[in-house]
Amino acid sequence: MKILEIDGGKTLTGTVYISGAKNSAVSLIPAAILTSNKTTLTNIPNITDINALCDILRYLNVTVNEASGSMVIDPSNLVNKEIPDEYSNKLRASYYFMASLLARFGEVHMSFPGGCSIGSRPIDQTLKVFEKLGALIEEKDCIFHITAKELIGNEITLDMPSVGATVNALIVSVLAKGETIIHNAAKEPEIVDLANMLNKMGAKITGAGYETIKIVGVDKLDGCFHDVIPDRIEAGTYIILGALKGSYLNIQNIIPEHVKSLTDKMIDMGCDIVINDDNIIVNANDNIIGCDVKTSGYPGFPTDLQQPFVPLLVGAKGKSTVNETIYENRFMNIPYLNKMGANISINGRELTILGSNHLHGEEVMATDLRAGASLLLAALKAEGHTRILNAQYILRGYEDIVSKLTNIGAKIELIEE
Ligand code: EPU
Repeated sequence: MKILEIDGGKTLTGTVYISGAKNSAVSLIPAAILTSNKTTLTNIPNITDINALCDILRYLNVTVNEASGSMVIDPSNLVNKEIPDEYSNKLRASYYFMASLLARFGEVHMSFPGGCSIGSRPIDQTLKVFEKLGALIEEKDCIFHITAKELIGNEITLDMPSVGATVNALIVSVLAKGETIIHNAAKEPEIVDLANMLNKMGAKITGAGYETIKIVGVDKLDGCFHDVIPDRIEAGTYIILGALKGSYLNIQNIIPEHVKSLTDKMIDMGCDIVINDDNIIVNANDNIIGCDVKTSGYPGFPTDLQQPFVPLLVGAKGKSTVNETIYENRFMNIPYLNKMGANISINGRELTILGSNHLHGEEVMATDLRAGASLLLAALKAEGHTRILNAQYILRGYEDIVSKLTNIGAKIELIEE
């Protein structure tokens, strides 16, 4: 087990450089096997979720060459094999290979995807997309067998704007015959990034980033060169950290529009934030006031920042509420924050936070990636020493977190026990 040891309460100053977006990179990598030619991706974060996807690529006989943030994917010897549980259960995004293998070979055999335990996370919307394009789906002994003689474009309305189903719909339809229209599509910047890369490969996608996306199928795709967008959730996490303990903390390599729902909230709370073209500067401020937050799809307040945001509300004056509308199990950080001195009650999908509380160090446990980020922020704010058990979850999504924090003045160490 990995453990983070943190001596909290230090003032943090300097520059944090934001890495490429995890949730973009995890869809771009499976999309790269839609062609037999090489694709080069740059600004790929060095995190464990990416390593898990590369393991799947290599298992499928794809050559992957990685060098400091860039990755060359060569699928010229790609073999379509059943992807067993030991590969698929490492992360949610493994199911993007369902779409790319189905599109390339007309069949895919794969076990259920994994991912953080933050709710039930069904895949019915993706399966609906595949069926609408003409695929047959069988599930036997926990393995999906999905086959299609021919994939033919269709009009699909998603029940909810699912990120995963929109990614799979894009990947599976770019090589289908005719036109596919996705209604109620997810509008996240990572969807736009994927559509941009697919268009560079020769796909014909319009409307990504809007509710309706149109894809005109093409016969063949080519390799491309693509630079991954900055990670808005990593950026948001450090922006919150700036408001907790920053002294002129500069968060560099940001697309400010992508974190607007967060920065708008923080400005309303009285946080000291200066937004520039590609960086944001934050100073901690003891006079912030609480607020009400409700998570929703982009451009709303992201569920992935809900947990990291709570430590800020703990120190804010007055009462705050948090309403989590996307996942039913994203409050597992709360008992640990309370152990550290917060006053938070859970009522179904809503939190009530009675603020102005000081946090102190404790032994706590990360239960998933963003719960871990929440506890890490609390630990950096808290007086005294915190041990975060199961810190491997945090490494799934935050590149070089120990050195990035050490560089700005944090006392933090990663150990293995
Ligand atoms: N849903 C269904 N059926 C489906 C798909 C989704 O009912 O077929 C429901 C889910 O249960 C959930 C909601 O729809 O309640 C949204 O799920 P979505 O499919 O949008 O999420 P996802 O694709 O599984 C991605 C990110 C998550 C992020 C969500 C929401 C990746 C690999 N994961 O998950 O990121 O929370 O979108 O923005 O892109 C994280 O980075 O920590 C993380 C969990």
